[in-house]
Amino acid sequence: MAVQIAPSILSADFARLADEVAAIADADWVHVDVMDNHFVPNLTIGLPVVEALLKTTTLPVDCHLMIEDPDRWAPGYAAAGAASVTIHVEAASAPIRTLREIRSAGARAGLALNPGTAVDPYADLLSEIDMLLVMTVEPGFGGQRFLDVVLPKVRRARELIKGRDLDVWLQVDGGVNAGTIERCAEAGADVFVAGSAVYSADDPAAAVRSLRERAAA
Ligand code: DX5
Ligand code: ZN
Repeated sequence: MAVQIAPSILSADFARLADEVAAIADADWVHVDVMDNHFVPNLTIGLPVVEALLKTTTLPVDCHLMIEDPDRWAPGYAAAGAASVTIHVEAASAPIRTLREIRSAGARAGLALNPGTAVDPYADLLSEIDMLLVMTVEPGFGGQRFLDVVLPKVRRARELIKGRDLDVWLQVDGGVNAGTIERCAEAGADVFVAGSAVYSADDPAAAVRSLRERAAA
């Protein structure tokens, strides 16, 4: 599958979101981090802002829900027009039902694993999803250091996807930058979230292109 670069607007200027998203028009997706200060110790945006953002861009909007009770909220993001909605296994109480609801509302269903969560116990859920998100930092904040210790899990996840002959994207999120993206790609990731590496660059569009080249190398 082709490499997808998904800049995270967590590192963008929230007062100028439409312009900040326009600045990465050559990205493949735009990644939106929804945090509730319960599942993670940080608070960002929710559905009303995502709805407003959806009106300003033609890029597929990838919603990463770092919230308690994703079972309650996730289908609403799908119904609003998000291209993909990802829930955390650590937070969901009925992941299969919620993933199916996301799909039936017309979005791709994603399942996220925190750095300390193993992938093998969730192998049977791979047939229920369109994307597996392996967190490469503890979720909650942008600009953290990439956790190399998670790379074997990325590799293992790719093996499980391949072994089942599934069409599931493998996304990495956290500390992905010019110095780490190649290791992620080599381990089998094909969707790369990058927040600070894109929005702290002088030219975000050029940063997206250079990440894509490195991942495809
Ligand atoms: C972290 C978020 C990430 C974050 C990544 O909890 O899920 O999407 O924006 O930021 P960087 O790329 O700066 O690590
Ligand atoms: Zn994220």
